[in-house]
Amino acid sequence: MVQPKILFCATIVLLVCMSNATNTPQELALLQWKASLADANSLSSWSPAGNSTCCSWLGITCDAAGHVVELSLPSAGLSGKLDAFDFAAFPNLTKLNLMNNSLVGVIPYRLCELPSIAWLDLGSNYLTNPDYSRLSPMPALEYLSVSRNKLNGAFPQFILNCTNLIFLDLSKNAFNGPIPDLLAKMTPNLVHLNLSSNEFSGTIPRSLAQLPKLQELRLRSNIFSGGFPEMLTTMSTLQVLTLGNNTLSGSIPMGIGNLTSLQVLGLTNNNFTGPLPMSIGKMKHLRAFHLFNNDLNGAIPPAIGNMTALQQLFLGNNYFNGTIPPEIGNMTALQQLDLRNNQLEGEVPAAISLLRNLNYLALGTNRLTGTIPLDLGCRQPLNLIGLANNSFYGELPQGLCRSFALEVLALNNNNLSGTLPSCIRNCSNLQSLRLGGNHLSGNISQVLGVHSNLSVLDVSKNQFSGALPSTFCSYASLLILDLSNNNLSGELPSCWWNLQNLQFMDLSMNAFIGKLPSARNHISSLKLLNVANNYFHGEFPSVIQKCKNLTVLNLGRNRYYSIIPSWLGVTNSRLRILQLRSNMFHGNIPRKLSELAYLQLLDLADNNLTGSIPTEFANLTSMRQQNKEQLVILVEYSTQYPYFGRVDINWKGHDEIFQRTVSLVTGMDLSSNFLTGEIPTGLSNLQGLKYLNLSRNHLSGSIPKDIGDLKFLESLDISWNQLTGTIPSSISNLMSLSSLNLSSNQLSGRIPKGNQLQTLDDPSIYANNSGLCGFPLSIACPGDSNSVPASDEQKEYHKDREELWLCYWVIAGFIFGIWLWLGVLVFLKPWRVAIFEFVDKM
Ligand SMILES: *[C@@H]1O[C@H](CO)[C@@H](O)[C@H](O)[C@H]1NC(C)=O
Ligand SMILES: *[C@@H]1O[C@H](CO)[C@@H](O)[C@H](O)[C@H]1NC(C)=O
Ligand SMILES: *[C@@H]1O[C@H](CO)[C@@H](O)[C@H](O)[C@H]1NC(C)=O
Ligand SMILES: *[C@@H]1O[C@H](CO)[C@@H](O)[C@H](O)[C@H]1NC(C)=O
Ligand SMILES: *[C@@H]1O[C@H](CO)[C@@H](O)[C@H](O)[C@H]1NC(C)=O
Ligand SMILES: *[C@@H]1O[C@H](CO)[C@@H](O)[C@H](O)[C@H]1NC(C)=O
Ligand SMILES: *[C@@H]1O[C@H](CO)[C@@H](O)[C@H](O)[C@H]1NC(C)=O
Ligand SMILES: *[C@@H]1O[C@H](CO)[C@@H](O)[C@H](O)[C@H]1NC(C)=O
Ligand SMILES: *[C@@H]1O[C@H](CO)[C@@H](O)[C@H](O)[C@H]1NC(C)=O
Ligand SMILES: *[C@@H]1O[C@H](CO)[C@@H](O)[C@H](O)[C@H]1NC(C)=O
Ligand SMILES: *[C@@H]1O[C@H](CO)[C@@H](O)[C@H](O)[C@H]1NC(C)=O
Ligand SMILES: *[C@@H]1O[C@H](CO)[C@@H](O)[C@H](O)[C@H]1NC(C)=O
Repeated sequence: MVQPKILFCATIVLLVCMSNATNTPQELALLQWKASLADANSLSSWSPAGNSTCCSWLGITCDAAGHVVELSLPSAGLSGKLDAFDFAAFPNLTKLNLMNNSLVGVIPYRLCELPSIAWLDLGSNYLTNPDYSRLSPMPALEYLSVSRNKLNGAFPQFILNCTNLIFLDLSKNAFNGPIPDLLAKMTPNLVHLNLSSNEFSGTIPRSLAQLPKLQELRLRSNIFSGGFPEMLTTMSTLQVLTLGNNTLSGSIPMGIGNLTSLQVLGLTNNNFTGPLPMSIGKMKHLRAFHLFNNDLNGAIPPAIGNMTALQQLFLGNNYFNGTIPPEIGNMTALQQLDLRNNQLEGEVPAAISLLRNLNYLALGTNRLTGTIPLDLGCRQPLNLIGLANNSFYGELPQGLCRSFALEVLALNNNNLSGTLPSCIRNCSNLQSLRLGGNHLSGNISQVLGVHSNLSVLDVSKNQFSGALPSTFCSYASLLILDLSNNNLSGELPSCWWNLQNLQFMDLSMNAFIGKLPSARNHISSLKLLNVANNYFHGEFPSVIQKCKNLTVLNLGRNRYYSIIPSWLGVTNSRLRILQLRSNMFHGNIPRKLSELAYLQLLDLADNNLTGSIPTEFANLTSMRQQNKEQLVILVEYSTQYPYFGRVDINWKGHDEIFQRTVSLVTGMDLSSNFLTGEIPTGLSNLQGLKYLNLSRNHLSGSIPKDIGDLKFLESLDISWNQLTGTIPSSISNLMSLSSLNLSSNQLSGRIPKGNQLQTLDDPSIYANNSGLCGFPLSIACPGDSNSVPASDEQKEYHKDREELWLCYWVIAGFIFGIWLWLGVLVFLKPWRVAIFEFVDKM
């Protein structure tokens, strides 16, 4: 510790020499601190050479006698420590403002040597805890901010001795523990108190209500629990009260309306329950009312119309029911209205069109019905209209986008019909257009114009028609394109792959023709490409070679005729789902496909494929174990309205749509081709398989002996082949099997029994073979006695079956349950988070 001291003295000596010994102690102190800083470029005026005093230096203010009274260097780019600051040299300093610099290290306890300090702002630095035990009271201190630093530990006790505090900001640190009950008593002059974004816990002290001058109480983002202290409603001076993002519960007190000076009330992200008190109508000055994401219920009180200063009303993610009160039209200052994700019913009051300042209207995911108010949007600068997931019907008002301010239009999943308003074409700020799941119609080329910011376009499940114009290629920001399930036709414009940012492209179930355009560059962002059920034709599209990050590829049900290229197994190594069914692909199945290490679903059914099943398939890594990892086809697009992809899977004989997660499905379908040779024995290594369909080929040889190793198999179909030999007894180990078809082969011998097989008692499973015998066929095996014993065995078996059915119901319930929550998950991030957290805890 000697060395720093020597250095320190040397610096002083040096400085003193340089300055011809004319500098005052306070100047020396400033220069000494400047010299200690790693970056003090902004302090060039702090120089000992000049003929002026430090009073003219940047950030310094002196009194008439030349004492420094203020040092104010906010956002001055300073980095370094405060250690070398000689506080004792500034007995008259009243204000020290160093906020928003890059100061590091501990806050020096010697700060207390500033006897006159009234204003201290060290906010937005990287400072750490002072030695609190050595801090002495600063009786003159009125303003203290240490916001956005790296402080932690309990509420600093010395603050209680700063009895003249008016402004206290400890926000954005990591303080913890309770707010001391004494605070209100010790600092009675407090006007602003900000403790938000810390880890303070416990209940909010009722005693805070005894701060007679308090105007701002900011406690958001802590871990406060307990109820809303009723006492707080007596604070008639309070203008800002933010309690959001805590774990507060209980009801909102009736007296809330007595906070008549309140301008901002933030209660978002808590667990408040019960109804919204009528008295809220008395808060005439309230500008922002945030109740998003609580457990509130009951009707929205009509008294809300009396909040005529209100600009933001966020009641989303609660359980409000009943209708939207028409009094809402009296809230003439309203700019943002968010009622989404409640249980509101009835029609949207026409009076909503009277709100001339409304720019944000989120009513999605309720039970609203009726038509959209005719004048909505006509004279309102709406930039978000969210009405998704309701039961609105009728046509869209033609004036909906007349202000041309629209950024988000989400009308998906309603019963809307007719054409889109023509003003959509001219909404050049449009970012998200979601119309999926309605009965909208019209020529798509006439409704869409130039939208260079468009990132989500979902018009799926409507009756739009026409071809895609080349203006589509100008949507360079597009991340999600879902045009599926319409009557779109024609070829894709050749400029198509100008859509360089596309992550998700679903054109399925339309009448597109021609070929997928080729691309010059790599299309590295594309993750899902689904063009199934169209009339695309020709060779396997070479553009896919450039889509290196493709996870899901579906070319099914088109008119492709060519071989399946070998490169697919090499260039598209991230493929997890590959569906080529119902085309005219011919030739052998490329062995290279076995190198697709993530492949979880392979559907090549209903083509003209020949040759044998590659033995290398035994090496399909991702099929070798049960897939725990969920493939969530969520496109990276973070707004409140996330978009989830879809995978259509032909499973157990029918099509199912898997949305959002397909971890449940690992399978292989090679059925209805002209495959020959034996079933590779290695296929029984693919123990993750849930379904395997090799039916309707020309496979010969016997069923692999270890087929029973596929322990998660739920569906096995190898019917309509030329398989011979006996059915391996291991098949009775397939405990999950619920669908089995071995018919129309040349199998012989005794049908194995036991376990799950006993439930599969439909004789047609085994029909049309040459020599099968035993249950469930009525053909007895040689050597068996003909009399069917009404025996214990039979009873036993019935009992097993009952248990199995129970098991099925449980499984079915589980799967249904998953669907239920997934249904909920689509819409809101907070819910998603909440639900996933819940699941995590299970
Ligand atoms: C010294 O003071 C004189 C007169 O006040 C002024 O003109 C001159 O620029 C000053 N010099 C420096 C280096 O500040
Ligand atoms: C502050 O300056 C005044 C003169 O301007 C002086 O009288 C007083 O003693 C100083 N205060 C302190 C605490 O030194
Ligand atoms: C701070 O105030 C408390 C009384 O609340 C007192 O006991 C304590 O001594 C004071 N601390 C200092 C350092 O003055
Ligand atoms: C809520 O508070 C937690 C810490 O308590 C914080 O991690 C989170 O970011 C906050 N969320 C919001 C939306 O402010
Ligand atoms: C609101 O304030 C009035 C007048 O001070 C008082 O009579 C009433 O009890 C308060 N209401 C509630 C619910 O606290
Ligand atoms: C608040 O609600 C969340 C989610 O429903 C729950 O996990 C949490 O336990 C609740 N907290 C309290 C204090 O009730
Ligand atoms: C709204 O305020 C007026 C007068 O300020 C009052 O007469 C009326 O009852 C209030 N409306 C509701 C629904 O509370
Ligand atoms: C709204 O919900 C409350 C309970 O949460 C219930 O008592 C009331 O009947 C519901 N009202 C309507 C209109 O559904
Ligand atoms: C408030 O709205 C209701 C219903 O729309 C209306 O009858 C009433 O006159 C409005 N009150 C005021 C003060 O504008
Ligand atoms: C494509 O995948 C690679 C990793 O293989 C990744 O680094 C890259 O960011 C991905 N590109 C896009 C656009 O997602
Ligand atoms: C598919 O195979 C069938 C039967 O071998 C044949 O008739 C048909 O022409 C083939 N189609 C194509 C496009 O190769
Ligand atoms: C599977 O892969 C391993 C190692 O890569 C190789 O030795 C083996 O021959 C492969 N098996 C088949 C059936 O291709």
